[in-house]
Parts: sequence; structure tokens; C-alpha cells
Amino acid sequence: MRGWFTRYFADTDSIAVPPTPSRKRIAPGPGESYDVSRRPPPFGHPLKHYFALDDKYVNLNHGSYGSIPLPVIYAANQLAYEIDANPDVFNRVAYKPRLAKSREAVAKLIGADTGEVVLVPNATHALNTILRNFEWREGDLIIGATTTYGAVSNTIRYLTDRSEQPRPEMLTIVYNFPLTHAEVLELFRAKIREAKQQYADTQFTDVPPLSEGYDRDPAEKKNKIVAVIDSITSNPGALLPWKEMCSIAREEGVWTVIDAAHSIGQEQHINLSDTKPDFWLSNCHKWLFAKRGCAVLYVPKRNQYIIKSSLPTSHQYVSPNSPKYKELGTNFVMQHEWTGTTDETPYITVPTAIAFREWLGGEQTIYDYCHKLAMDGARRLAEIMGTKVLNESGVLVATMSNVYLPLPVEKTPGEIYSPEVLANISMFHDEQAPLRIQHIRWPFLPQRCMDVSVQRAGVQRHLRLRVCWEGVQCYLRGGEGDYPFRYARETARTSAIELTRRRGLGHCH
Ligand SMILES: Cc1ncc(COP(=O)(O)O)c(C=O)c1O
Repeated sequence: MRGWFTRYFADTDSIAVPPTPSRKRIAPGPGESYDVSRRPPPFGHPLKHYFALDDKYVNLNHGSYGSIPLPVIYAANQLAYEIDANPDVFNRVAYKPRLAKSREAVAKLIGADTGEVVLVPNATHALNTILRNFEWREGDLIIGATTTYGAVSNTIRYLTDRSEQPRPEMLTIVYNFPLTHAEVLELFRAKIREAKQQYADTQFTDVPPLSEGYDRDPAEKKNKIVAVIDSITSNPGALLPWKEMCSIAREEGVWTVIDAAHSIGQEQHINLSDTKPDFWLSNCHKWLFAKRGCAVLYVPKRNQYIIKSSLPTSHQYVSPNSPKYKELGTNFVMQHEWTGTTDETPYITVPTAIAFREWLGGEQTIYDYCHKLAMDGARRLAEIMGTKVLNESGVLVATMSNVYLPLPVEKTPGEIYSPEVLANISMFHDEQAPLRIQHIRWPFLPQRCMDVSVQRAGVQRHLRLRVCWEGVQCYLRGGEGDYPFRYARETARTSAIELTRRRGLGHCH
């Protein structure tokens, strides 16, 4: 017997959706609409007209939070009126077909089937949905890396810490950049082999469906190894050879969870049907221009049996012990359509965001501009600071690049940037009011990181200037960061000299 919720939410595809007119219509303001029949403005400052960014703000950090175009903000606001014109009609009838359109648009972009794609609030949520749904056994291993994003490695840590048994164990690959793609692959394979040797008595027979030796019979499955792999690490911002890592993992019988938080809208040629990761997730609110609070979770049909419950568990949960399980399986898509009342507008903005990108010339055009800007900008910054870029060949660069700062280099982790030295540096910079600079040393990363926030005469100019330079977008133009770069160079040089004087440390540049 199907309940009221199932009736309303399951059958709406076949219903002609009544309009939900709102008395309140807002007319689009400047930059909030565009004429598809006309060419877009050239990239760089003319495009800033279509973004809400403060004129005085040079956003060199598109990567952390994204920044959405005004037509997307406008569409989201208009939708808010529509939702509240008749919350019942929207939530019970109009929402699901709109959500399906968003899922379809995202699926097309990443080369997946719409039935393998759902939307969730963010990458952390998607990652937790996957890792908390695996049924762990004592002796299972999760492989992360020193570059794994904080909340992600903490999720792994939590799984290994929590009181319920059984708990998996966590292993960590040390990526000490700069590295070539070949070196990353070597380290990845070596870690898997090392783990198997270290636990030679463990039978890793729970392998993913596409690996040799896969057995459907749960009784035949003993332990598993799950690798959590970044497609693009955030610190430093480096594009990893994740597709090749998926192949290695498949050969080795290791499950892959791809944290591609930065990929959609930044990385080109994501074709999940070709690459076949076991799980993949990406934020739509970073590079794709969807409203904040929207990420895509991809689970191929062959692995949907693993995702027994959405987070949180929803109305559409199907117990494996119920008769419905035979027909619906885990009901992956419908479970994720409604996981409790929330604001659905971020999910619905996806097609608007993609349409705007198409008007700009499409994914490749945007990428080509931003990639060149990231490469040129990084070289210019290195030139101004008298240092070098992390990756001259550009294989690690999509649209985020990395530059060395003119500060002493540690030869072994912690040698120079001990907490005491970091405190010294901060103190030194605190004395340099009105400039505030924080130095952050990320474990095992290349030695020097700096976070710069410049505040002058009430005008804020923010510049993230650390080893990871967090990414450029097509509303910027070349040379834009010169002023803060020069400012930073002076400060960095002074700090290096002062640090050297105070501590008697060597100076690398
Ligand atoms: C690599 C990586 N994974 C996961 C996340 C988490 O994203 P969110 O905060 O949207 O959950 C981030 C955020 O920047 C990230 O860089």
C-alpha cells in the first residue's frame, strides 16, 4: 500500500504541472538578465557587470565558495516568490520535475545516466553519505592522503574512532608536492601494495563489481580497501591523475570514492561512464555557478545497493527486509529527492547556471581563458616575488595555481614552521599594521603557505596568497593582482629577512 507521500512524490512525472503564479514579480536589474541572441561581453572586467562582486574586490579565490552570476541570483529570487506563492503546489507537485531537470543537466555534463545522479547540499554531505553507508568490517582499510580535505579526512577519522564496532583503519599517502602525475600514480599504487603486505593475513575479497574476483554473494566477501581520492586537491590546488588512479584501484580490487569537489565547472572532459569510479561527488556551487548549497552525488547503478539510506534517512527509505526492496532496491534517486524540508532553490538553479555558461561560450571556452589566466598570473606573481611556480608544465593546473613565497624553506616537516616560529611570524606581521598576514603551514605541504588579507584605509582588498592560489574566474583579467602582489612581495621579503635575522635561518630566494 503506497502512502500519501509516495503518491504525491512518485507520480508527478506523469502530472501536468500546474503553474504557480506569483503576484510578486521582480523586474531584472542591470546584469540580472542577458539576451541569448547577442554575443556575451569579452571575458575580464566587462563580464563583472554580470556578477555581484564588489568593484574594489579582486577575487583570486573563486575556489572556496564560488560566486554566482546575477542572472542566477535573479532566477533564485524569482523562484523564492514562486515557492511561497503556493508552498503546497510547489513542494508537492512542481518541485520534483524541476529537480529532475537539474539532475538531467548535471548528468549530461559529467557523462552519467540521470538515474545515477542526485543532488545534495554540499560535498561534505555527499562524502558522508557514501562513507557512512559502507558496511565496515574489522580489518577494512580506508586510504586517504595528506592532501585530503579537512572535513573529509575527519569523516574517515570519525569512522575509525566511533564507539560502534567494527571500525575500519585509516592509512595515509604522503603527497609532498611538487610531484609529477607519474610520481602520484607510483605513490598511490605503492601504498595499496604496502597495505596488502602490511596486512598479509587479511583477505581483501570484498572488491568492487568491476574488479576481477568480484562475487555477489555476501558470504564470500571478507575485507575491503576503499581509497578516497581527490580529483583536484585544494591545498595545494593540484589536478591529480584521478582517472588513472581509478584504473589502478580497479586492477588492485580497491573501491574508489572520488572527492571531485572542485571538478564540475573547472575540470574538462569528465566522463564518468568511461572512467567508472565507484563513487564520485562534486560541488555545483563552486565552479559551475549554481547557488550555494548544491552538490552532485554520482553512484553508478551497480553500486546503489551500498547506499541504503540518504543522509538523513528519508520518507522513501526502503528496508532491505521489506518486500518493496525486490522491486525498488535502495530507491537511490527517490530517497534523495526529499530528505526533509529545506530550501530547494540551489538545486533548481543548476540549469540556469549551465545556460549562462553556454551563453559565455561553453565549458571549454571558459576553461581555456581561466587556465591561461591561472598560468600567466602565477608566473607573473613568481616574477614579482622573485620565486617560482609550483608546476611550470601546467599538468597540475586547471584554474588554480601555486606559487612559492620568498620565505625560508624547511628541509624536513616542522623544521622551520614549528608553532613557535609561526607565532613569531604572526607577531611580526601584527606589528606591521594595517597589514595583516597569517602564515599557515599545512602538514607535509611544500614548506611555505601564506594567507594575506590586506586592509587599508577602510578599503578591503583581500588576497589569498599562499602556496595554493585559490583560483581565477572569467570575470578577472591579466595583471589584475599586480597591486596586491607587489604589496605582498614587500611584506614577504621583509618577513623573510626579519625571520632570518631573528632565527638565524637560511633564505631560499
Ligand atoms: C577537496 C574538497 N573537498 C571537499 C570540500 C568541502 O566542500 P563543502 O564545504 O561544499 O562541503 C572542499 C571545499 O572546499 C574541498 O576543497
